[in-house]
Amino acid sequence: MDQDRYREANLDAWESVSGGWEKRRPWLLDITGVIARKLVEDADPKPGETVLELAAGTGDTGFLAAKAVGSEGRLITTDLSPAMLAAAERTGAAEGIANASYKVVDMEAMDLADDTTDVVLCRWGYMFPADPAQAFAETRRVLRDDGRLSFATWAPPQKNFWAAAAGATLAARGHVAPPEPGAPGMFALAEPDRIRGLVTGAGFPEPRVDEVEFEYRYADFEDYWTGITDLAGPLAQVIVGLDPDELEATREQVRGLIESFSEGDGYVIPATCLCTSGGG
Ligand SMILES: C[S@@+](CC[C@H](N)C(=O)[O-])C[C@H]1O[C@@H](n2cnc3c(N)ncnc32)[C@H](O)[C@@H]1O
Repeated sequence: MDQDRYREANLDAWESVSGGWEKRRPWLLDITGVIARKLVEDADPKPGETVLELAAGTGDTGFLAAKAVGSEGRLITTDLSPAMLAAAERTGAAEGIANASYKVVDMEAMDLADDTTDVVLCRWGYMFPADPAQAFAETRRVLRDDGRLSFATWAPPQKNFWAAAAGATLAARGHVAPPEPGAPGMFALAEPDRIRGLVTGAGFPEPRVDEVEFEYRYADFEDYWTGITDLAGPLAQVIVGLDPDELEATREQVRGLIESFSEGDGYVIPATCLCTSGGG
């Protein structure tokens, strides 16, 4: 797919699951909060500082930082998808976050001034721009010289079977093309060497890359399946387009693949992120 078509499809995919992200937010907070807390801890935002969250989704990683910078500091919550950003704004209001502003921003072309940010946070976003080198160059531009960058990406599929089971099944059944090496997508920044190359290529010093493991916990198979269809932007759209027989066959194939992770009625499936931090 050429880059412009990819950019359109990427926006459509995330717009289409914004409702799912808002609906499953409490579940996500519980299970993935460990990654949000680690990113904020690594960036260490201080009272009075300006924090920019990129690809914020419902905004929860940034909201942790908003508390740390206090009323003298500020958070700029951004996302490519207006629907995701609207969800973040509702969440921020409900959480009483008073020092945040909200803006639609494409990581590849940020409508933000040079040298205006102390901290950039991004959980699971840098894998999706068509040109990640451009997204890191933009990040370097908006950060002050001593600014800090802290972001999470997914480790390779074999360490994230919770998502790979569905993705591999859709590829095996011919519904999605197998991912090309280096192409944008969930596992595009799964290798520390590629991350280091992109970060230093944008002018940052050598970053630290920490592997962090946690577990996805699902109440039953329906919970697992709706976890995919509610949240997995690009895959969810493909699943919605399947005819009923093919949908059932796909579900059953995925159910078989994750069977070894069942615990009682539910499933506990390991997940691994790479948390990268540096700058300054
Ligand atoms: C997997 S979700 C992560 C959401 C949130 N950061 C979290 O951790 O809960 C990916 C997010 O990246 C956003 N996104 C995708 N491509 C983007 C781009 N080029 N610029 C900014 N945001 C982008 C999507 O709209 C979506 O909200």
